[in-house]
Amino acid sequence: MDASYDITAEFHEVFMPPAWDRLRDPLSAIFGDIGPDGVIVDIGAGSGLGSVLLAEVSEAEIVALEPNTTMRSMMVARLDTAGVLERVTVLPGAVPDGLEGLPDRVDGVIATHMLGHLAGAARMSLLEWIANSLAPGRTALLTVTPEAAAEAPAGGTEPVVQERAVGRFVYRVTSRMAGPGLMEGVFEVIDQQQEVIRSVPDTTSWEAVTADDVSASLASHPVEVTEPLDGVALISKLSE
Ligand SMILES: C[S@@+](CC[C@H](N)C(=O)[O-])C[C@H]1O[C@@H](n2cnc3c(N)ncnc32)[C@H](O)[C@@H]1O
Repeated sequence: MDASYDITAEFHEVFMPPAWDRLRDPLSAIFGDIGPDGVIVDIGAGSGLGSVLLAEVSEAEIVALEPNTTMRSMMVARLDTAGVLERVTVLPGAVPDGLEGLPDRVDGVIATHMLGHLAGAARMSLLEWIANSLAPGRTALLTVTPEAAAEAPAGGTEPVVQERAVGRFVYRVTSRMAGPGLMEGVFEVIDQQQEVIRSVPDTTSWEAVTADDVSASLASHPVEVTEPLDGVALISKLSE
């Protein structure tokens, strides 16, 4: 599990919502027909942005797995504000061990902006759990590394800077892949005099995982893997 989310959770909250804008329509198209008897699992659910959206676009019961206490706290607050607390079971736990506490048969899965945290065996456990647990004809949506970004250049990638105003301050995140499997970030708060009044460096393990990698991992399972949008992989369980 990645304990650094205790420190960066506040920044996650500021910068993550736009990443969800492009997932709203796919989520609605894939999960919109699931009724109250269906279950959708949100793996590495973070602050609950995906669980709230799932509750909006479907009538399903939702089960959210999230290891980090700070992120879970934000999730429970968000679920309550959205009026969907009664529909979402929040489980503490991490892949792979946390998979044991999930329902055996599910009607949908999402695993967004989290797959890169899982190294080899843990990632394989998640992908196999998805392939084995999905009901026939049902789908999982994962965000993956776009093919063009899979090979980090020697010396790492150029930094990406994101900024957003929070009251009188500006929150800034500067991040880059420092090398294979390693993401470096600096999380800063800047005041009106352009002084950096907080600066938190953070290094996280983050593997590049493409849709082709997912497909290759599940080659022996009765699933089809597609990439309808750059960086979005669908695992569809074939009908029996
Ligand atoms: C960048 S956040 C994304 C959160 C959420 N899925 C979203 O898209 O808004 C990554 C999340 O993955 C969680 N995570 C890290 N390692 C994990 C693991 N082994 N099993 C489950 N979740 C994990 C972190 O605690 C964090 O909440």
